[in-house]
Amino acid sequence: MAKRNIVKLGDDVLRKICRTQLDFNEKLHQTLDDMAETMYDAEGVGLAAPQIGILRRYCIVDVGDGLIELINPVITEKSGSQTGDEGCLSIPNKFSTVTRPMSVTVRAQDRNGNNIIVKGEGLKARALCHEIDHLDGILYIDYKG
Ligand code: CO
Repeated sequence: MAKRNIVKLGDDVLRKICRTQLDFNEKLHQTLDDMAETMYDAEGVGLAAPQIGILRRYCIVDVGDGLIELINPVITEKSGSQTGDEGCLSIPNKFSTVTRPMSVTVRAQDRNGNNIIVKGEGLKARALCHEIDHLDGILYIDYKG
């Protein structure tokens, strides 16, 4: 495993629409392992592929209940709302208030291409929304509190 550099605000790569990940191979697994190392080292709760310069639709989340890898994730259900502070590893040392769904259901694939469903509430829902937004070039600062 190796730590990757996290792309910072101002880099165009954070504003691109990422493409579908089609290969579930060793290269993907290596990159996911590197992303986990990078996220834990930075003490983040999520990291998306474009944040390490890869314009593909995958991200990871760990809000303290275990690592989740999401390949080609899509939010299929949202309910409720929560308003709270949010930050991003690509925008160091800044936080602002963002309203998100209180709970979400996400359909995705795992690192081997198997279909998975992930549900999240509270912080986990917030992190899932935030990371999946990254895959469409959306940052939390785009939302008005
Ligand atoms: Co972020």
